[in-house]
Amino acid sequence: MTGTTPATRVTDLPIRWLREHMHEALTIYGLAMGYDSSVVAGRYGYAVQHTERPGFRAVGAFAATEEGERLVGFGYGYLTAPGQWWHDQVRAALDRRTAKRWLAGAFEVCELHVHPDSQSRGVGRQLLHALLADLPYDTALLSTPDADTKAFRLYRAEGFVDLARGYHFPGDARPFAILGVRLPLRPADRRGGG
Ligand SMILES: CC(C)(COP(=O)(O)OP(=O)(O)OC[C@H]1O[C@@H](n2cnc3c(N)ncnc32)[C@H](O)[C@@H]1OP(=O)(O)O)[C@@H](O)C(=O)NCCC(=O)NCCS
Repeated sequence: MTGTTPATRVTDLPIRWLREHMHEALTIYGLAMGYDSSVVAGRYGYAVQHTERPGFRAVGAFAATEEGERLVGFGYGYLTAPGQWWHDQVRAALDRRTAKRWLAGAFEVCELHVHPDSQSRGVGRQLLHALLADLPYDTALLSTPDADTKAFRLYRAEGFVDLARGYHFPGDARPFAILGVRLPLRPADRRGGG
């Protein structure tokens, strides 16, 4: 599929391409999240392992430059399953009924990041829609810092609801929100239409 932001193309990323360009993608992750290089370096092995998970899907946004196309944003996720660290943390954060309704068989949006120079131009929304389009799952889940951020506003605007708020993952002092949405996402042109 192709996005509509002028000179920016949003497309599915083949797994092999992402593995070969993981450093490039994680540089965007570090800049977008404000993480230093040691955090980014520490993420590399996990990110490569994620590409091997069942249901893995990745999308990227490419901007046209004089030298050719440049990756300016990416997102990926996979089928969440017991035994995965995030899944087990989220399972513990939710009551049994909520976990059964939302977490079982869900797609986890693991990463979604846009280079700071390309943010607030619709790229993140296009990436989210591309990532979640035509998935064979009933729900998509994610966690995001529990604060008034661009990410939180984007997810809320796209129909994500609270599954847990103020949750603390081990090793991170920040409170997180665990959000979920029923798939398919509402088309972008019908947002706000109920
Ligand atoms: C979150 C992120 C992926 C969104 O991508 P983006 O390209 O900046 O967002 P978009 O331009 O598509 O905007 C989508 C929505 O985000 C929110 N948003 C975007 N820019 C914003 C800004 N400057 N201030 C407040 N909200 C903003 C709005 O709700 C916007 O919808 P609207 O345009 O209808 O108002 C991107 O900002 C990012 O990488 N942020 C840092 C990393 C991060 O937090 N990743 C998510 C981790 S869970």
